[in-house]
Amino acid sequence: MKITKICCIGAGYVGGPTMAVIAQKCPHIQVTVVDLNEQRIKDWNDPNTDNIPIYEPGLSEIVAEARNRNLFFSTEVEKAIDEAQVIFISVNTPTKTYGKGKGMAADLKYIELCARQIAKVAKQNKIVVEKSTLPVRTAEAIKSILDNTGNGVQFQILSNPEFLAEGTAVTDLLNPDRILIGGDTTPEGQNAINALVDVYANWVDKDKILTTNVWSSELSKLTANAFLAQRISSINAMSELCEKTGADVTEVARAIGMDSRIGSKFLKASVGFGGSCFQKDILNLVYIAKSYGLNEVADYWEQVIIMNDHQKRRFSNKIVQTLYNTVADKKITFLGWAFKKDTNDTRESAAIYIADDLINEQAKISVYDPKVSRNKMLSDLDYLQTRSNEENSNSLAIFDNAYEACKGSHAIAVLTEWDEFTTYDWKKIYDSMHKPAFLFDGRNILNAKEVEAIGFIYKGIGS
Ligand code: UDX
Ligand code: ADP
Repeated sequence: MKITKICCIGAGYVGGPTMAVIAQKCPHIQVTVVDLNEQRIKDWNDPNTDNIPIYEPGLSEIVAEARNRNLFFSTEVEKAIDEAQVIFISVNTPTKTYGKGKGMAADLKYIELCARQIAKVAKQNKIVVEKSTLPVRTAEAIKSILDNTGNGVQFQILSNPEFLAEGTAVTDLLNPDRILIGGDTTPEGQNAINALVDVYANWVDKDKILTTNVWSSELSKLTANAFLAQRISSINAMSELCEKTGADVTEVARAIGMDSRIGSKFLKASVGFGGSCFQKDILNLVYIAKSYGLNEVADYWEQVIIMNDHQKRRFSNKIVQTLYNTVADKKITFLGWAFKKDTNDTRESAAIYIADDLINEQAKISVYDPKVSRNKMLSDLDYLQTRSNEENSNSLAIFDNAYEACKGSHAIAVLTEWDEFTTYDWKKIYDSMHKPAFLFDGRNILNAKEVEAIGFIYKGIGS
């Protein structure tokens, strides 16, 4: 089977960039990305591609090249499903906020809705690809819905997890370490796998395209994220010990990273990992392990989250303690709100939790982030439901210039590692602040000696 029409349900951080790259690399395939959110689709269709809703380096250029050639963004979900041979499901699967598995299990209501919609509309055989991160055996549930509510057409379900990291989505998609495709071992399943392999083979070496069964593929995604997050929690655990003993975590990370068995990546101590995947996927893993009665397995992985929560709390405590045990009515400036640099995504960003802690201590928070909108920051805080929306907006002042944001503040907290923060005139910032001026570097991106020479009282992570 030769694929000529693809539909992707969900125009978010995964669906948008992934489909843009498929469209760019496969001009012979028509790619339609659909979403229920009309504003989001409108933004993807903005004539100025700098205004597309997702910021990723290199993405707006690719959209400019492929859009309205073979890449389309639309709200006509049913039409796109009907026309396509392959349907990617890239809708969000947040952690459940209600009922059984609350706070742990993935909320599959959006996935189920998609499956029902596909079943209703499909009049020909289709390949359905799970792209969102999903608990193991979700494909089975999708299959059951499709087979039992469909119009008698054949569905093949593939798992094709996305390993792109935000901020580097385009380069990750163009040069993936590997592509993973899981499918049924039946001849029909193998045909579906081969059809999808052919799509990726337009730009990815065949030896980087791995095929396996559906469950191995689903579990590989959760495992990859759990291992990555575990490295961060491991180095963050060491950061606290370094602070007590006089060791320097950056030196420790460098020393262990040169051991080729350990490797140097993902060893940056930080204020804690954020993002839409790590916490959610590990909680999923924990939930699955518990549901099979594997309590030791569940506890082992849950500790990665416990350590991460501790690291965030430790950072806000450190600010309060250093500022003479009170931040009430003090202005504290956050540089960065996104969960990492080069993205406008803020899901699970450490900044949200640090702000929440400090507002509880009655601090006044000022924020500057190069890409995150004011509304996003406020809705992130409101989502925690710690206090009224009005109280949040009174406690959070948002600036579009870092120098203005820092003026008159008692302390600065660097919470995202945006490159531009390292290029600032820190003397000028120091001069505009209350004295003593404190600088809490939650990302260890500034040169401690240099800023201390200016006069700052500097506190990094793990030294
Ligand atoms: C992650 C996975 O990397 C990706 O493969 C998967 O598909 C989705 O989840 P993402 O969440 O976009 O990607 O970002 P990632 O680069 O993994 O960073 C996650 C968090 O960890 C960020 O908050 C980042 O700042 C933090 N981090 C990362 C550290 O604190 N230290 C590090 O050394 C690396
Ligand atoms: P991710 O990081 O997984 O891509 P996002 O939240 O950025 O998550 O994107 C998911 C998108 O999926 C959202 O834009 C949401 O509106 C969309 N979506 C959710 N359910 C459906 C559905 N049934 N049909 C179409 N779009 C949907």
